[in-house]
Amino acid sequence: MKYKIAVLPGDGVGKDVIEAARIVLDAIQLDAEYLYGDVGWEFWCKEGNPLPERTIELLKETDCCLFGAITSKPKEEAEKELAPELKGKGLTYFSPIVALRQLFDLYANVRPCKAYEGNPLNYRDNIDLIVFRENTEGLYSGVEFHPLPEEIKQILLEKHPKMKKFEGVPCNEIALSCRIFTLNGCKRIIRKAFEYAKEYGKKSVTVVEKPNVLRETSGMMVREARKIAEEYPDIEYGEANIDAMCMWLLKNPEKYSVLVSSNMFGDIISDLCAQLVGGLGFAAGANIGDKYAIFEPVHGSAPKYAGQYKVNPIAALQATRLMLEWLGEKEKAERLDKAIAWNIKEGKVKTYDMGGSSSTLDVARDIAEKYKKLEIEEG
Ligand code: NAI
Ligand code: MG
Repeated sequence: MKYKIAVLPGDGVGKDVIEAARIVLDAIQLDAEYLYGDVGWEFWCKEGNPLPERTIELLKETDCCLFGAITSKPKEEAEKELAPELKGKGLTYFSPIVALRQLFDLYANVRPCKAYEGNPLNYRDNIDLIVFRENTEGLYSGVEFHPLPEEIKQILLEKHPKMKKFEGVPCNEIALSCRIFTLNGCKRIIRKAFEYAKEYGKKSVTVVEKPNVLRETSGMMVREARKIAEEYPDIEYGEANIDAMCMWLLKNPEKYSVLVSSNMFGDIISDLCAQLVGGLGFAAGANIGDKYAIFEPVHGSAPKYAGQYKVNPIAALQATRLMLEWLGEKEKAERLDKAIAWNIKEGKVKTYDMGGSSSTLDVARDIAEKYKKLEIEEG
């Protein structure tokens, strides 16, 4: 076997859509071995760990991972659902996907958002965006305080004049989340965006930040982007502020191509862009590092539809397509994209969100069949 692929279906409809992805992968006849692993709520409840060590070991033995979706719940509820023997042991729930991103240093979160012809859910036609979001640092670094430790408050008062206005506020009334950018973090995400634009012939790269206010963090990102942009004279380089960009993306989404941003701003525009082209049934993301990558639909476990095969598998199939692309199986990836486009344009076999009544697996089988037909046509 050429590839070893870890498959983590997770909870709820994660299982449904991964089953759909397997139908398509089997039709594609990718030369791969699929190794299924445990992740999610079930393992939190049974073992007190939603990401068991054996799953991490499994991922380490594979080339990449296809991930379904997981359920997560607030702290108190999580504690309540633990097996009796695990209660009161101080176990805390954490998001497995966030942990995996950190563990494997998957610094690029890549989310393509393309309006497929005939999709009734398109906001507008001719949208073809792709968002590169920094995935490991920034405001989601997890370095947070509440109450603010007194020592930190003193140092901030000493080091920064703007801290003065908080001097009289008691520490237990101050919460602090650190927006940490590193030079390497900025450089590598911007480089990824430009390299992608170059490889796929995209016309422009736009950095979305807020350097006029966040002078040091966004400032660093934009400064590095300007330098790197010079190395790609054929690609148009642009800058936009996150707030203005939210307006422009609604006004002229066709104008943009590759967008690159830090963790939180990237999170925000990724969701905005996804909704322009059909929302959760269509949105997929790749979490890419230098050595490993995890591919996932953006949606969660949608508990009300769990096991009913009702949800749209296209998001998971897009994740599959991104995986094929990353593995270097470009021909297969492109053909899968065409098969998905054909299914959408034809508009016969579709799930409820697109106004149809076909099942998750019907859609997958239709796309698998179309893939086969294209394969014969294209020789
Ligand atoms: P969700 O994404 O699971 O579902 C929200 C709603 O969107 C669904 O009820 C459904 O109406 C629609 N939807 C979702 N996927 C769809 C699809 N493929 N086709 C058609 N419609 C679809 O978000 P929700 O309900 O907020 O969260 C449910 C659980 O999932 C929570 O426990 C949450 O923490 C978790 N979650 C996990 C994520 C992950 O695994 N990456 C991401 C988001 C939420
Ligand atoms: Mg998000």
